[in-house]
Amino acid sequence: MKSIRVLVMGCGGVGRQLLEHIISCRSLHAQQNLVLRVVGVCDSQSLLLVDDVSEMELNDEFLLELCRAKSAGSPLSSLRGSGKFHVFENFEVKEKVIDAAGLLGSSSGLAVVDCSASSETVEILMQAIDLGCCVVLANKKPLTCKIDEYEKLVSKFRHIRYESTVGAGLPVIASITRVLASGDPIFRIIGSLSGTLGYVMSELEDGKLFSQVVNAAKGLGYTEPDPRDDLGGMDVARKALILARLLGWRINLDELKVESLYPNELGPSSMSTEEFLNRGLQSLDSYMADKVRGASLKGNVLRYVCVIEGSRCHVGLQELPKDSPLGRLRGSDNVIEIYSRCYKKSPLVIQGAGAGNDTTAAGVLADIIDLQDLFL
Ligand SMILES: NC(=O)c1ccc[n+]([C@@H]2O[C@H](COP(=O)([O-])OP(=O)(O)OC[C@H]3O[C@@H](n4cnc5c(N)ncnc54)[C@H](OP(=O)(O)O)[C@@H]3O)[C@@H](O)[C@H]2O)c1
Ligand SMILES: *[C@@H]1O[C@H](CO)[C@@H](O)[C@H](O)[C@H]1NC(C)=O
Repeated sequence: MKSIRVLVMGCGGVGRQLLEHIISCRSLHAQQNLVLRVVGVCDSQSLLLVDDVSEMELNDEFLLELCRAKSAGSPLSSLRGSGKFHVFENFEVKEKVIDAAGLLGSSSGLAVVDCSASSETVEILMQAIDLGCCVVLANKKPLTCKIDEYEKLVSKFRHIRYESTVGAGLPVIASITRVLASGDPIFRIIGSLSGTLGYVMSELEDGKLFSQVVNAAKGLGYTEPDPRDDLGGMDVARKALILARLLGWRINLDELKVESLYPNELGPSSMSTEEFLNRGLQSLDSYMADKVRGASLKGNVLRYVCVIEGSRCHVGLQELPKDSPLGRLRGSDNVIEIYSRCYKKSPLVIQGAGAGNDTTAAGVLADIIDLQDLFL
């Protein structure tokens, strides 16, 4: 049996689903002579770590209890005293994670898995890599930091996986990596990488009002609590940057051109979420309707995409032929078209559900399993 020791940072929707997947895949992993041992879990305040990371693990019953406690809104520290582990807080968290990484990185191995939504984990991840550990991310922020830090983080490319950061479980990063590794140069990537914006733009084709469609998307649970977090485009921009950097572009987030679907006057500093939904959004209806109509007259549809091509990487609205993979998109799927020498006339297209705790966590688990050769 090969042991893969895992430390999970973040136990929100994705982190908890990952723990549940690990538990429900026990017999599948046993058939492959693998066993995943969870040695620690972090939330925003604390680290819960077994007393001896080389010899001990958190058992399944306890992990399920931990998931129940976190979904009920209790902090990890509420579990203190219920087993052979310690709960560390504040400055001790980083120190203890790095201690564990130092110990296991030079012996049996450790996968540090970032399922947080924080930009502050990058330092721990870089150190973990330096100490010989593996890193898996669902969190985009450490990969969209300044280019020098990014290059340090990914320098041991066999030790890091981040498939779920773009298109959730869809094999976007893996496919691009393979095309590049074959020596086939990629000259264009265009993708609809937000389920929310994919849904909104395809519904507009039916002549519905922008404000109606955004409210419907919110009702379906497709948007962030404040839909401006989706409409602003920054989440798509982070994904675009991850892909551009994968192609070798040495650029930073602030160098990307990002088109927001709402103007500054309707921003969070000017009005509340409620005001935006009830009145701000409506002021955008006629502008969007005109754009949709303009596209339609030319046989096109409007899509919110990221385009990486030539020397530009931008994120925003684009008119595309109705009869293209992106033009045919309906609903909340992600679609990405990749053009290279081999995929020139007929691009490599990847399409499917691009969000959700379940598929995202499944992608993270597949990444961990993919690193198994680095464990004893
Ligand atoms: N859900 C999806 O469909 C999806 C798809 C692709 C990628 N992702 C990415 O996956 C990540 C997790 O998403 P989610 O939906 O699970 O988010 P979430 O529900 O907000 O959970 C975030 C978790 O991270 C913890 N956390 C915050 N700061 C931390 C820190 N400095 N160190 C360690 N843990 C910290 C939070 O702690 P508390 O519990 O104390 O608040 C929480 O448990 C995000 O980066 C997201 O962008 C999500
Ligand atoms: C993901 O998990 C969070 C937290 O448990 C939950 O609020 C959300 O509805 C889940 N999302 C999906 C699409 O299941």
